[in-house]
Amino acid sequence: MCGIVAYLGEKQAYPILINGLRRLEYRGYDSAGVALLEGDALTIYKCQGKVSDLESHINGRSTVGTVGIGHTRWATHGPPNDVNAHPHQGTSGDLALIHNGIIENYAPIKEELVHRGHVFRSDTDTEVLVHLIDDIQRSENVDLAEAVRLALSNVVGAYAIVVIDRKDPEVMVAARKSSPLVIGIGEGEFFCASDATPIVEHTKNVVYLEDGEIAVIDRTKGLKIRNIKNQVKTPFIQELEMQLEALEKGGYDHFMLKEIHEQSRSIRDSMRGRLNLGKGEVVLGGIKDYEQKFVNAKRILILGCGTSWHAGMVGEYLFEEFARIPVEVEYASEFRYRNPIVNEDDIVIAISQSGETADTLAAIELAKGRGAMIIGICNVVGSSIARVTHAGSYTHAGPEIGVASTKAFTAQVTVLTLMALMIGQKRGTLSGGNFYRLLNELDAIPDKVQKVLQKEAQIKYIADIYKDASNALYLGRGYTFPVALEGALKLKEISYIHAEGYPAAEMKHGPIALIDEAMPVFVIATKGASYEKVVSNIQEVKARKGKIIAIVTEGDTMVKDLADHVIEIPETADPLVPLLSVVPLQLISYHIAVMRGCNVDQPRNLAKSVTVE
Ligand code: AGP
Ligand code: GLU
Repeated sequence: MCGIVAYLGEKQAYPILINGLRRLEYRGYDSAGVALLEGDALTIYKCQGKVSDLESHINGRSTVGTVGIGHTRWATHGPPNDVNAHPHQGTSGDLALIHNGIIENYAPIKEELVHRGHVFRSDTDTEVLVHLIDDIQRSENVDLAEAVRLALSNVVGAYAIVVIDRKDPEVMVAARKSSPLVIGIGEGEFFCASDATPIVEHTKNVVYLEDGEIAVIDRTKGLKIRNIKNQVKTPFIQELEMQLEALEKGGYDHFMLKEIHEQSRSIRDSMRGRLNLGKGEVVLGGIKDYEQKFVNAKRILILGCGTSWHAGMVGEYLFEEFARIPVEVEYASEFRYRNPIVNEDDIVIAISQSGETADTLAAIELAKGRGAMIIGICNVVGSSIARVTHAGSYTHAGPEIGVASTKAFTAQVTVLTLMALMIGQKRGTLSGGNFYRLLNELDAIPDKVQKVLQKEAQIKYIADIYKDASNALYLGRGYTFPVALEGALKLKEISYIHAEGYPAAEMKHGPIALIDEAMPVFVIATKGASYEKVVSNIQEVKARKGKIIAIVTEGDTMVKDLADHVIEIPETADPLVPLLSVVPLQLISYHIAVMRGCNVDQPRNLAKSVTVE
């Protein structure tokens, strides 16, 4: 869940590391640290807090070194404090190690090492690993790379690590298993990072390390990769397409706000080259070879976590309506642990912005093992999920840095809509007229999103009225039920207001007891199949003095008379309403969180990519 960055080259490592850590801070932000190597002098600085705290801590002290490693932590073992911050060292003091993940069998290894005289300083599982490498290096008299390999053979868990050694400043060793690690190859310099964001400004040439691989980066011999069984692997160098501007705030106060405002463009990018109005077709290049299997599928299973799971729920409605294939949407974390029934003629769609979510990855492996075909919908190009799935469609939303997912959600829903339309057309379950009408409607969505974004001033005004609420309820029906869930998640994760999303009709089975004059109820009440029913639900809330903030279709009058506030969105087809109605909810949460003084881009306790289970 943390961010790892490392450098070996001719330049001073410190500025590169700090800049890289700032780019990675969205991944983990409870403590930070760096280790710098110059000749045989190893300097380590680390502290609790943000990267800016680390900078203040280091300010004025020596930062010399052309080799270095840096880390932002998201604590799993031991509280966030100075001692538990990475890098960690072994007994000899020669090594410095950074780690992302969890060493599951740290306890027996620690016991053995304590027995052998090692003294531990921190509460982390990570420290066990560096002591183990240190111990092996000395007892077996092997070099760093071999000691890392032998140590990792004893380790159960997930890791991305980078280790440096004071006795061998020309070498840096990195390894991964179930946690991401990318190696950047520049002119006489090398970078390691959890994702490509700290690398792209230095080089576009990268190697994505595979699970079980160990990279040995040597100043003179270059990059060599072998696996844990000591087999030599050939590095596969790929070119990054990411643009640097995508990683900057571009004049916005927060990444989240920038990403909300990017949605007109990002939805368009998700459809680019795929939706062809002229020819009246949808082409998804990434799944072309598997189209027939998809068309013949007996069942679709959709897996994801958090916001991606919400997008999957929209997918369920879309596939069942357009393609008439039964769909089950599952939390990846539940699916993986409950011996699910998976058949060879099932299609599994795995949705993940980061492409690194540990539960989703494990669920994919399970389904794959049972013979299902797996299609990925990922945002991060080259991510683990994108690589383990049989086929897939990238969302092309561009880097999402804010921890609260916004543009990734609308991009996921866009791709699911395209898929469901395409399969529905090919199965003949969607009439030609309907298919074409929906294609046209989808094509118009980016402009309509832009119109919704223009409502920001009004939304900010409403946010100000409800910013001090302690609870909030979100209601939707049909296609907008998942949007209600997503609206509630957005509010709770960044403003820390307790919020619940419910199908509007379910309210009377329990949550209605919560309603009083202090309870804001956000209702998606757009014109469509369930409009009258939702209006009745609004009446029920008003009868109990709840406050209604309704998302309505432009020109609506009935809800306007009932609600305390209405936010109008342009008219569109029912299945596309999620793409428009989620936007005001994202903006409401954003503004409420800012008004409450919360750290919007890095909300407490969260991390952008959840690479531990
Ligand atoms: C969304 O706002 C959350 N931060 C979180 O629920 C997220 O969607 C979830 O962790 C899944 O991440 P993924 O899409 O990268 O797999
Ligand atoms: N498990 C390690 C720790 O708690 C690493 C956590 C991380 O990935 O940041 O320090």
